[in-house]
Amino acid sequence: MKKKLRLGLVGAGFAGRYHVECLRRVYGVDLEITGVTSLREESRSTFGKAHGIKVYESVTGMLEDVDILDICSPPYAHEKDIIAAANAGKGIICEKPLTGYFDTENGGAASKAPMLKSVLEKLQRIAETVEKNKSFFAYAENFVYAPGIQKEREILEKTGAQILRMTGEESHNGSASPVYGIWEKAGGGSLIGKGCHPLSAMLYLKRIEGIMRDGRPLRPKTVCSRTHSITRLKNYRDEKLIRTDYHDVEDYGFMHVTFEDGTVADVLTSEIVLGGIYDYVEIFANNHRSRCHISPAKLMDIYNPRGKEFENIYLMEKVSTKEGWSSIATDENFTMGYQTEMQDFILSAAEKRPPQSGLGLALDTTATIYAAYLSDEKNGTETEIPLNWEL
Ligand SMILES: NC(=O)c1ccc[n+]([C@@H]2O[C@H](COP(=O)([O-])OP(=O)(O)OC[C@H]3O[C@@H](n4cnc5c(N)ncnc54)[C@H](O)[C@@H]3O)[C@@H](O)[C@H]2O)c1
Repeated sequence: MKKKLRLGLVGAGFAGRYHVECLRRVYGVDLEITGVTSLREESRSTFGKAHGIKVYESVTGMLEDVDILDICSPPYAHEKDIIAAANAGKGIICEKPLTGYFDTENGGAASKAPMLKSVLEKLQRIAETVEKNKSFFAYAENFVYAPGIQKEREILEKTGAQILRMTGEESHNGSASPVYGIWEKAGGGSLIGKGCHPLSAMLYLKRIEGIMRDGRPLRPKTVCSRTHSITRLKNYRDEKLIRTDYHDVEDYGFMHVTFEDGTVADVLTSEIVLGGIYDYVEIFANNHRSRCHISPAKLMDIYNPRGKEFENIYLMEKVSTKEGWSSIATDENFTMGYQTEMQDFILSAAEKRPPQSGLGLALDTTATIYAAYLSDEKNGTETEIPLNWEL
């Protein structure tokens, strides 16, 4: 009989909900969702009641009853719970982004060199604590598990392909989180909130390519970046269709990453997009070319002349109208990678092996993004990505 795994959830919001949905569909492991906690009593109680999960007042109280802490709180709260869980000998699942810089009331205007330095210290601290405790660590980056990205992994492993260049994007109209547009809670704007997804997918694929050929990951070396705050321009004409609640963070970003083998990846990301979530990764390799449609996943299109008729029918996250043609998200948990992600995490934890999306990818992604903020401050100058760990 396999040992039961007990999981405790931190955060009772948007991500917490789909984690529970997907965790309850995991097969092959005896998994119990033992508890949930969050900052506000009201939100954790409502969530616990809705999902039939015991409510804890704090992480400290919940930790001793669980084997894995699943962190779905806002980015500013991740580090302390990662460290607490690792030191208590527990496994960790952590939502993206891993961590960031939060010690500012106007992050957009703050100096970026000290920001990068401070983030690197945090990354080092997390890496050392997780390593020292030999903790199971899973980085909840769903792009890694999107069907197209996992198919691409198989192609790389079976054909020995070399990726020459990649392009990718995640853009949609804001976030469900009320603190998303505030640097001191989110750690930045589009680059970190959304750009982290395609960036991680591309870093992951180059890691796979390197491991497959030379037994070690191919890693990012430099980045050039620009960000803009377009909805805060004085001449922005607000038609009230696009969200504008970005306090001190960018709503558009671009990163050009050069890998240690001289190949490249381009990431576009923004809040300024109508028509639902726009996510893709395109790969140009020496023996094939792939387009991974993450959203819309192109499984179904619907033409609906009267929006009201579809009032209670879910079409796609952040689609602003249900009239006319729409691309339907028939099963977002699968097409966006969430279900496969949870399956891999729980199975990996049970089998005591690292998951596809692990700590090395989380650390490299975060360092790349803060090096990108520094590059942006220097109007896009090529900037070294300091990677002080071998993971
Ligand atoms: N992978 C994805 O596609 C995806 C999508 C959405 C969110 N996320 C990530 O999930 C995380 C949560 O985002 P969300 O959209 O669910 O936010 P949310 O605002 O909907 O929910 C956050 C929850 O965390 C709780 N919380 C806030 N501060 C806390 C603290 N200090 N300690 C414990 N709990 C705290 C809140 O009370 C709330 O229950 C973020 O890291 C976000 O980037 C990932």
